[in-house]
Amino acid sequence: MQYTILILLMSSMLLTGCSQHQSNTVKLVAHNDGQVRQRILLDDGWRFYNYGADMTPDALIYDIRPVFNSDEDDKAADAEPTAAAHIDTSDIKHRVLKPWILPTANDFIADTALHHLRPEGNPGSNFAFVQPDFDDSNWQSITVPHDWAITGPFYTGDNAVVGGGMGRLPSPGVAWYRRSFTLNAADRDKAVYLDIDGAMSYAMVWINGHLAGGWPYGYASWRLDLTPYLLSDQPNQLAVRLDNPPASSRWYPGGGLYRNVWLTKTNKQHIAHWGTTITTTDVSAHQATVHIRTEINNRSADNVAMTVKTEIYPLDEAGAVTAQPVARLKDITVDARASGKTAVIGKIIINNPKLWGPPPQQQPNRYLALTTLWQGENLADQYETRFGIRDIRFDAKAGVIVNGQPVHLQGVNQHHDLGALGAAFNLRAAKRQLLLLREMGVNAIRMAHNPPAPELLDLTDEMGFLVINEIFDSWRRKKTPLDFHLIFPDWSEADLRAFIRRDRNHPSVIAWSIGNEVGEQYTAEEGAAEARRLHNITQQEDPTRPTAAAMNYAKAGMPFAGVMDIISLNYQGEGIRDAPAYAHLQGIRTAPAYASFKQQYPDKLILSSENAAAVSSRGEYFFPVNRQNSAPVADGAGGDPTQLQVSGYELYSAEFGSSADKVLASMAQHPYVAGGFIWSGWDYLGEPTPYYQARSSYFGVIDLAGFKKNRFYLYQSQWRPELPMAHILPHWNWPDRVGLTTPVHVFTSGDEAELFLNGVSLGRQKKLPGTVRLRWDDVIYQPGKLSVKTYKGGMPWAMSTVETTGQAAALSLSADRSRLQSDGSDLSFITVEVLDSAGRTVPNANTLLSFYISGPGKIVATDNGDASSLVSFSATQRQAFNGLALVIVKTLKGQSGTITLQAHSSETSSASITLNSH
Ligand code: GAL
Repeated sequence: MQYTILILLMSSMLLTGCSQHQSNTVKLVAHNDGQVRQRILLDDGWRFYNYGADMTPDALIYDIRPVFNSDEDDKAADAEPTAAAHIDTSDIKHRVLKPWILPTANDFIADTALHHLRPEGNPGSNFAFVQPDFDDSNWQSITVPHDWAITGPFYTGDNAVVGGGMGRLPSPGVAWYRRSFTLNAADRDKAVYLDIDGAMSYAMVWINGHLAGGWPYGYASWRLDLTPYLLSDQPNQLAVRLDNPPASSRWYPGGGLYRNVWLTKTNKQHIAHWGTTITTTDVSAHQATVHIRTEINNRSADNVAMTVKTEIYPLDEAGAVTAQPVARLKDITVDARASGKTAVIGKIIINNPKLWGPPPQQQPNRYLALTTLWQGENLADQYETRFGIRDIRFDAKAGVIVNGQPVHLQGVNQHHDLGALGAAFNLRAAKRQLLLLREMGVNAIRMAHNPPAPELLDLTDEMGFLVINEIFDSWRRKKTPLDFHLIFPDWSEADLRAFIRRDRNHPSVIAWSIGNEVGEQYTAEEGAAEARRLHNITQQEDPTRPTAAAMNYAKAGMPFAGVMDIISLNYQGEGIRDAPAYAHLQGIRTAPAYASFKQQYPDKLILSSENAAAVSSRGEYFFPVNRQNSAPVADGAGGDPTQLQVSGYELYSAEFGSSADKVLASMAQHPYVAGGFIWSGWDYLGEPTPYYQARSSYFGVIDLAGFKKNRFYLYQSQWRPELPMAHILPHWNWPDRVGLTTPVHVFTSGDEAELFLNGVSLGRQKKLPGTVRLRWDDVIYQPGKLSVKTYKGGMPWAMSTVETTGQAAALSLSADRSRLQSDGSDLSFITVEVLDSAGRTVPNANTLLSFYISGPGKIVATDNGDASSLVSFSATQRQAFNGLALVIVKTLKGQSGTITLQAHSSETSSASITLNSH
């Protein structure tokens, strides 16, 4: 397809007299015939089939994969990636389907000479599962988003089919999804697309028995044109084949149609896929220029004169349009090329714009551009784009500057899974993750290491997080035998362009990360050339944002480091295996490296894309406690290899990591560093360093169930200095430690604290410069009450107490939300606390709990944050872990009423809670 670009430099045209404060939602349709564009969520009505572990799947493979013997599931995260293995094709019995899938990428390959031609033939057409009349009634009935692996069962033992690295869950394998849909008479001349936000992985799609295309990368969003294969008089049958390779990931990938799937119907002339690009320039509180590029797709055989009209509406906090437009761009009429795409460019000045920026200093105000496409008087299409007006600068000295204000990045890395809910995207669960991070003082998220669900970026826009949006964890060199490197040569350009086109209008996205700790860091000029190719593509697609690639190995003087716009360091800033406690370890060893990068690249912004990799289990404490503020976890030194738990004193890290204390101290010493991203915000499924017999990580500041570890308060004390808070660790239930040394540590946003045990002062201490914790390391344990009084600037600031409790006697249930929508996806997260007879949480209670639900809701998952627990997430019976458990309740679609959840245990009285679904 050819592109025509028409540039119209328009004089600004401002609308006056618009009311900004109407309370009613404004209807956003100029001349709606009701049908110009339909986006239909294909959530229910799906049938699912998964080959059993003992079955040989069908031979409709995408490509031949290399044979591998060992996948070294527990290989260190910073091990050097290796070259791709040779694939032996001498004995190919199969025909591979790759040539029919590759053309799906064509819209995202710039050089038309490299476009893929679809071969003759229609592979798979004889296979039963793709036939419209195949009887799938005994397949499982499911709703999408769906993660086939999350309910387990977990694989156990040392030689498990899936080890701890990928979360011990059955995500590898081949599975099929089928669903039909019917078109109506009005759809006869429409273009009909299947839009898949994410399918894990190697998706191939048949419609009415025709192989229409597919997309291998499981984290990509992509579109298929179904139009040529559709039937208007009978049901249309979709059949999607997914194939998740084993040893394809360093974490839990999930499996299935795990994000939303849509059917989009448009007229022949319509706004193209991801067809608007909005950028803002000359931004100030008084004025901003909004630039909008709109791409028209004309699928008819004739050139057609089309008019593009754009109006800009303010959005309220909830994202609703409640006011009249603040601006209307001048209409643009263009001859839209036959069978091609035509782009038009317009701009307008907005006076007194409400800027988008991160709270608490700024507000994440948003706008909506309503684009309508006209053929004469007839409305052909209408398209909505949400965006924000903001100015972001990357300053080598001052860091990230948003609308003129420096914003220190207080960031976390987040994987895509939602804990016990798995990879299946759920808006409510994602929002809960962000809300807890916000409470800690987080203002930035790095999407590690793949494109997120599109709705997650809607949330970061709405809530005002700054996002580093990352696409790849590997390029040509591999980290696991069957990871993305297998498809990188064919798909990297298309994946990268599609990723940027999808996400470039999100105000929260501040930078594009093209890779994480890729093996090309090690290959000098060759690796740098690969980086340059990806950097250039990124700049072509979006010249307004910088590129980054996270480096845990490349040093300032190496060719790789200079390619990207910003310097993105993993662990190197504070040094890797550098402190005395780490001196005995093998592996990458790096002295603190901020200064050398600063010297080499004085004009580039430096940030810490990963730091800490500290590890802990909520509520677990082991003795003796390290006297230094950072040490590698080891068996018997912060780690318990029998219980598979790590001490919650928050002093221990992975071998290449550092404690939070060390990272924050290093950050404070290097004020030109723009801030950083903790590895990791929440615990995630897989990568259970240091204990690969477990299922989920120990890195999180928040555990897998959403309960705060002590580290949460450590960061909060630094990142929300204005919030009066104090936090004591450990708990004070140590019947076996009476008379023994039991260190007490305190995190506070104050600067001084006095500790009391049973009313007796154990001394008043001031925080030393460069430290973030107050330590009383010689406390002799006696049961009773431990309390801390903190001060700031000499004035009383905050207090906190922990007490020795009695035995478990009661349960308490509390819901994060008790009024729910009966839409079949809304969730309530219910915290179960085990209490003593005085109503205090028993911090070491591991009481076995049973849950029962009645009314229009179901228990979708339970958890307790224990990384070592291999109890299925769908179990309705589970132990509390150190006093807490979680029950996740989902509403039933279309059924309203009162939901009652009960919790029982043989050791305590029962408890119940009611929720309302409406
Ligand atoms: C880093 C890597 C992350 C994660 C982390 C903790 O090296 O980039 O993906 O593996 O280590 O192990």
